[in-house]
Amino acid sequence: MKNNVDIQRRKLLKLAGVSAAALAIFPSLLNAKTMRVGSHASPDFNPDIEISLTGEVKEVSLFQGAETRVWKVIGKVLKGDKSAISNDEDSYLAPTIRLHKGQKVRIYLNNKLPSATILHWHGLHVPAKMDGNPMYAIDEGERFVYEFEILNRAGTYWYHAHTHSLTARHVYSGLAGFFIVSDDEEQALKLPSGEFDVPLVIQDRNFDQNNQLNYNVGMMQRMHGFLGEQILVNGTPEFELPVATCAYRMRLLNGSNSRIYKLAWDDGTPLKVIATDGGLLEQAETLPYLTLAPAERREIWVDFSDKEIGTELTLRSLAFSSGGMGMMGGGRGRGRGGMMGGMGGGQAHAGEDFPVFKVRVSKKVSRHDVLPKRLSTITPLRLADADNPNSPRRITLSMRHMSALLNGRSYKMNDIREDEIIPVNTLQVMEFDNGFHGGMGGMGGMGGMAMPHPMHLHGEQFQVIKREVRNESEKGYASVSKGFLDKGWKDTVLVMPGEKVTILKPFNDFTGLFMYHCHNLEHEDMGMMRDLLVK
Ligand code: C2O
Ligand code: CU
Ligand code: CU
Repeated sequence: MKNNVDIQRRKLLKLAGVSAAALAIFPSLLNAKTMRVGSHASPDFNPDIEISLTGEVKEVSLFQGAETRVWKVIGKVLKGDKSAISNDEDSYLAPTIRLHKGQKVRIYLNNKLPSATILHWHGLHVPAKMDGNPMYAIDEGERFVYEFEILNRAGTYWYHAHTHSLTARHVYSGLAGFFIVSDDEEQALKLPSGEFDVPLVIQDRNFDQNNQLNYNVGMMQRMHGFLGEQILVNGTPEFELPVATCAYRMRLLNGSNSRIYKLAWDDGTPLKVIATDGGLLEQAETLPYLTLAPAERREIWVDFSDKEIGTELTLRSLAFSSGGMGMMGGGRGRGRGGMMGGMGGGQAHAGEDFPVFKVRVSKKVSRHDVLPKRLSTITPLRLADADNPNSPRRITLSMRHMSALLNGRSYKMNDIREDEIIPVNTLQVMEFDNGFHGGMGGMGGMGGMAMPHPMHLHGEQFQVIKREVRNESEKGYASVSKGFLDKGWKDTVLVMPGEKVTILKPFNDFTGLFMYHCHNLEHEDMGMMRDLLVK
């Protein structure tokens, strides 16, 4: 939402024949107070690096035959280290941004798309006005200027569109990419880098006969979340990664609208996780499979040094019970063979077993990497330091009567309630209750639906301190719980039906609006999103 006064003022100025150039020369024509957020570069901000990101409609070649029309972000480094941006021309993905902690960055977002949009830096601790709140969406032809310092520790973050009620559609069309941060502590570890450090974003889509993205979601599909029948990794169908006989750092991001993955190697090798949403763990954790909800990240250490040339390994998503989920998303596209062949008649379900990508050992190298015993130091947040140690801020998650709600409320701009005001520079205990206490929560009754909700908070990373389930044998929970990894820093946490998850979340440095929402993008667009006012 743009400031109305500002819009009127600009219209008046336009009528009066005052051009943008004149405004630049006589900035006092627009006093700073009414100047729209993000409308200009501020003269007292000295960026180490300046980037432009331009969103435009483009055709990319995903399949044989017709090209696919997507919403592509094209990145360019205007000033500073050119390696900060890597564009992948053959995919719909937005470019990967790589920056170092402490760098100051200015990003120009140019919107050449036929829709208002705005980008959000998922997982980054930035000022409220730089966070991509939907109220800052810019129209076609407009520009938004972001300026912030990278305060986050090294980690695999990402960015995506965040336009109210259109986020799912925008992300689906391509408006999402990696935002990778490094720091000195991480670099001292000498983890696999360059070609041995591989970001992998997993997504599902539907394509029509002409290779065009298909996002037909009726009410039922929106309630359950979109599920596509074609799995893509880094924007590529039937993705294969050639690897050498050494160790790899794989950064897995679930960039899907709503699909949850239960990731495991097909030969039964357990997974060694070295990092989650907010960067490295203290030490690697070994899990039989990874439960990866939308927006979550896990970095894994995979060592191929004892493998023969020609060995193939497949990362699969294993079957699980998704609670209330299970409807197909989108229309019946052409069955695309291969990857999703096992999904039966082109129908995509939550919790099916299917391959995600394949790794092929194809090169001998004599590197010998040792996984460091200690990866980082994470200071545990303490309940005793919270502002509200004995009265967690409870957020009940519910789906009822065609709406997705947080504490019974739907998203509305500028609708801050008493319990959504947070004093700045405090630590808060919060709990996400998905039917744990019964009542209006996730489980049935009164037209409600039991559904998993990946809950995300903007701003600083948080720590999960407790996970409680109403009933250990709750089907959905039991089928994915061994793949949870609640250690380290998180910005998104999956809350299964019947569960309550308690977190400690810091609200330091910045005042203003910071969102909290379900990262099932269909749920988010249906209103399962609210603002917190930090002040
Ligand atoms: Cu990944 Cu509010 O976003
Ligand atoms: Cu976010
Ligand atoms: Cu949800």
